Parts: sequence; C-alpha cells; structure tokens
Amino acid sequence: MSHRTTSPDPQRTAVVTGAASPRGIGRATALRYADEGWAVALLDLDGDGARAAAEDIAARTGVPTLGVAADVTSRDSVFAAAESVRSAELPPVGALATIAGMPSPVPFLEVDEELWHKVLDVNLTGTFFTCQAFLQDMIDGGYGRIVTMSSVSAQQGGGVFSKTPYSAAKAGVLGLTRSLAREVAEHGVSVNAISPGVVDTDIRAEDSDEENEVRLSESVPMKRQASAAEIGALAVWLSGTEAGYITGGTHNINGGAYIA
Ligand SMILES: NC(=O)c1ccc[n+]([C@@H]2O[C@H](COP(=O)([O-])OP(=O)(O)OC[C@H]3O[C@@H](n4cnc5c(N)ncnc54)[C@H](O)[C@@H]3O)[C@@H](O)[C@H]2O)c1
Repeated sequence: MSHRTTSPDPQRTAVVTGAASPRGIGRATALRYADEGWAVALLDLDGDGARAAAEDIAARTGVPTLGVAADVTSRDSVFAAAESVRSAELPPVGALATIAGMPSPVPFLEVDEELWHKVLDVNLTGTFFTCQAFLQDMIDGGYGRIVTMSSVSAQQGGGVFSKTPYSAAKAGVLGLTRSLAREVAEHGVSVNAISPGVVDTDIRAEDSDEENEVRLSESVPMKRQASAAEIGALAVWLSGTEAGYITGGTHNINGGAYIA
C-alpha cells in the first residue's frame, strides 16, 4: 500500500456505488482509492459481489473496507447502507463516487415506460439518493468530494449501446452535479462529473460481441477503449486534497471522441 500525498490526512472513507462488477469502473475506482490510502465502502445491488470485492481489496492493500448490498433506485436501501457504513469501524466519509449505472441499447420507439423509468432510476435518481444519503457526513467531517458518473452520450447523443433514456439520464447527472456543486461549495464539498467515452468493462456484454468492440475501439481517435483503472484514477484524483478548488466540472476522459 502506498499513501500518496493527495489522499486526506487523517484517513477518510471513500464510498463507491456500483463497485461489485469484477471488471467494472466502480471496482477499479475502489481499488485505486485503497491504493492511495483511503478506506473504502463498496455498495452494489450485488451484495455478495460487493463483500467479495471489499475482502479482496482489503487483502491487497491493507486498508479497512466494507461491502454492503444497496439498490440505488431505493431511497430506503441507500439510506440503510449509509447507516451500515456509519456503524462500521471506518474513518469518516470523505468521498463519494456514484458509479452504479446501466445502459439502454433499445431503439427509441421500442422504449416502454418501464424501461424509461428504470434507466432514469438507476443512473439519475440513484445518484440523487446516494448524494443525499452521504452529503451530511462530508459536511460534518469537514472534507467532501463527490464524483458522479456521466457519459459522452450526455454530451453528443447516444450510440448503439447508450440510446435516448441513457443519454437523458446521464445529461441529468450533469445538471445535478452543477447545481449541487454550487449549493455545497461553501461547505468545502466539491461535486464533479466524470464523462467517459468507451470503457473496456462488461457493461455491454449482453449486447455486444468482439467485432462490435473492435468497431467501438476504432471509432475513438486514440483507437482504443479506456481501461476501468484510468477512469478510477481520475475519480480518485478529483477526490484528493490537490483538487479541492475544482467543482461543478464535466471531466471528459474519452480518447478524443468528444472534445469541447
Ligand atoms: N463502460 C463504458 O463504456 C462506460 C462509458 C461511460 C459511462 N459509463 C458509466 O460508468 C458506470 C460504470 O459502468 P461499468 O462499465 O463499470 O458497468 P458494469 O456493468 O461493469 O458495472 C455496473 C455496476 O453497477 C451495479 N448496479 C447496477 N444497478 C444497480 C443498482 N440499482 N444499485 C446498485 N448497483 C447497481 C452493477 O451490479 C454493477 O456492479 C455506469 O454508470 C456507466 O453508465 C460506462
């Protein structure tokens, strides 16, 4: 374990949602926080996966970790998970990365009401509930960094795997981020959005194949997908002491796919 200078001293806990998926951005982000000396609380719909990831990260880094089942679409579930984090023997919460999300590859005329609400609930309402559940901890603790997860789909419109409900939800995340950033700035809490392009995870596994993945990579000016670890590194840097004056931003990490 290496304690780098950008993690707060004394140690804080970083809460990461969507942290169970073995090749996912959430898990890679949680590992990066731990590598930089943060304690980590991993929340996911897949409670067993979150607990397994927490144990693995603790074994690899030596930091205190906790895995908790949480459905970000349920306010009760998220607030119960926040209580579990508070009652665990962890340092105060100093960062929150809201990474839980789901795609929507369905063409517009085939999007039914249920799918529309589901995609907005997971990607946008889940961000709202999670920020609400942990914000006061950060204000009370005197250190706060919220990192939300948007997508290039919010900025330039969706692609094959990220059609209208997803783009709308991820654009909503940008609005939430900007507004909350202004509202909590006086408390020293920053709120920033990360906007990745194509990332090499299993999020498209059900709908994609090798040929599609090659085509996606080729569509990026850098001719490759981001790794989950690259996204995690940005989230952790935005959570660090050096990034304290950066707030309300949309931080593109897309290999040149969208430049604004
Ligand atoms: N992979 C990409 O190309 C890409 C690009 C831009 C943005 N993103 C965003 O990054 C985030 C992570 O994506 P990923 O590629 O790691 O996906 P992933 O599918 O590997 O991981 C998503 C995780 O979120 C969890 N999750 C889903 N619904 C949940 C719920 N209701 N409550 C709690 N947890 C839930 C899943 O169990 C899973 O562990 C998502 O918000 C996604 O939209 C991904």
